[in-house]
Amino acid sequence: MKRDDGIEKTTRELQERVKELNCLYHISELINKKSSNTEDTLQSVVDYLPEGCQYPELACVRLVVGEKEFKSANFNTTQWKQEADVLVENQRIGCLEIFYLQKMPEADECPFLGYERKLLNNITGMLGKYIERKITEEKLKRSEKRFRDIFNNSADSIFIHDLKGNILEVNDVACERLGYCREEMLKLSVLDIDSPDTAHLAFKRIRKIKEEGEYTFEAVHRRKDGSVFPVEVNSRFIEYGDETAVVSIVRDITERKKMEEEMSKAQKLESLGTLAAGIAHDFNNLLMALFGNISLAKMKLPENHPAIEPLNSAEMAMDRATSLSNKLLTFSKGGEPVKKVFNAGELVKDVVELDLSGSNVKAEIEKDDDLWKAEVDKSQFQQVVTGLVVNAKDAMPEGGTLTVKMENVPINDNYVAELEPGNYIKISFSDEGKGIERGNLDKIFDPFFTTKKFGSGLGLSTAYSIMKKHHGCIKVESEPGKGSTFILYLPAADFDDWE
Ligand SMILES: Nc1ncnc2c1ncn2[C@@H]1O[C@H](COP(=O)(O)OP(=O)(O)O)[C@@H](O)[C@H]1O
Ligand SMILES: [Mg+2]
Repeated sequence: MKRDDGIEKTTRELQERVKELNCLYHISELINKKSSNTEDTLQSVVDYLPEGCQYPELACVRLVVGEKEFKSANFNTTQWKQEADVLVENQRIGCLEIFYLQKMPEADECPFLGYERKLLNNITGMLGKYIERKITEEKLKRSEKRFRDIFNNSADSIFIHDLKGNILEVNDVACERLGYCREEMLKLSVLDIDSPDTAHLAFKRIRKIKEEGEYTFEAVHRRKDGSVFPVEVNSRFIEYGDETAVVSIVRDITERKKMEEEMSKAQKLESLGTLAAGIAHDFNNLLMALFGNISLAKMKLPENHPAIEPLNSAEMAMDRATSLSNKLLTFSKGGEPVKKVFNAGELVKDVVELDLSGSNVKAEIEKDDDLWKAEVDKSQFQQVVTGLVVNAKDAMPEGGTLTVKMENVPINDNYVAELEPGNYIKISFSDEGKGIERGNLDKIFDPFFTTKKFGSGLGLSTAYSIMKKHHGCIKVESEPGKGSTFILYLPAADFDDWE
């Protein structure tokens, strides 16, 4: 009898244990299912849990996590309840409750059996770990998103590539600037985006990064369409997954380069100006002495003396020398322009018509009716216009038309790199002459550059420095054989200053 009791008890305990383990197994499967979201998972645990109880049909379950509640279908609160806290990092974040809907026979923890308590405790333990994992995953996801946002919203291109140069990751800016989509980029190597002239330096650079940990250098990048642009690259090593990779932050320095070029052009002009001023000044003094002595010599000779003629020729040559040295002086004449508000349109029209009168070049002048006024040094500005008109005449020895267009242009972005945003008067001079060879385009503003037999090469350099001093600029567009267009941008005067 006693022995049977023992067996019966062991059998019952074994059955309870099997039930408990089954339930735990099933719930651990629910929790580890990858595809479902957190709320669905918790609900499915709650739905399943009554199965693990002694009287499944009469049990109901509620799980409270923070503000959220999950209940089994037949849920109702009663006095026959068992509960356990859900803990995350030792903090209570909710609780799990099991109720029996009716009074049941008395048991270990009335009316619950010992195994039901163990089951409840085990399940809340599992739920705690599960929720903790979800919170960590969520945090990770958020921080990943934050980094991805920073990565993609950076003003600079960012590349991650391995030590062989293969691109592993790029941000949106990099794709945009180079004209590739992300998938295309990830198939490329840094050699594909380096300009062909500098691609051979890639491995030298990687070696340098290895040696110094970080390396900043200038390079030239090539877009998908083959066009190139200057960049500044800052590279360093990072751990990327299991491998060592290089992260490069790449800045487009097109604007900076342009500015630097402008600056160095302006500096060159300035130092040449100082030099020219010195020469012209000494030169004028010497010419004065020459003039004086020649006329003295002429006075001492009888009129029909054979030396008179060569002396006359000498005087003529000196006239030319004087005019050249005066040109030099205007080019170099530092000094701020003495500016007044003028109707620049009228001024241009008058100068153009005067300079072309009697020549075989005709002027066609188009002008906005309400053309803004400008603050200019009248004689300096006249000199700029005359220089351009004379050049146009020289370019069209057989005659033609010089079209002068004057319009108001507000500039509010980097439309013309060296201009501050603001209102400008744009004056363009288009001729039908022989145009300018491509190779000469960036030389024509250099002082003394000329392609003419008797040119001084000072017209455009003077125009350049005068426009600069007026906070404007001069630009050129030309195609050999099709003529040239010179464009002046002159800042408009404030309306208040108009007379
Ligand atoms: N309208 C134009 N058409 C063709 N070439 C031009 C024109 N204006 C200037 N150039 C070129 O630029 C050079 C420099 O011009 P500039 O500084 O005025 O000096 P110069 O007229 O004394 O040669 C010229 O020699 C010429 O080659
Ligand atoms: Mg000239």
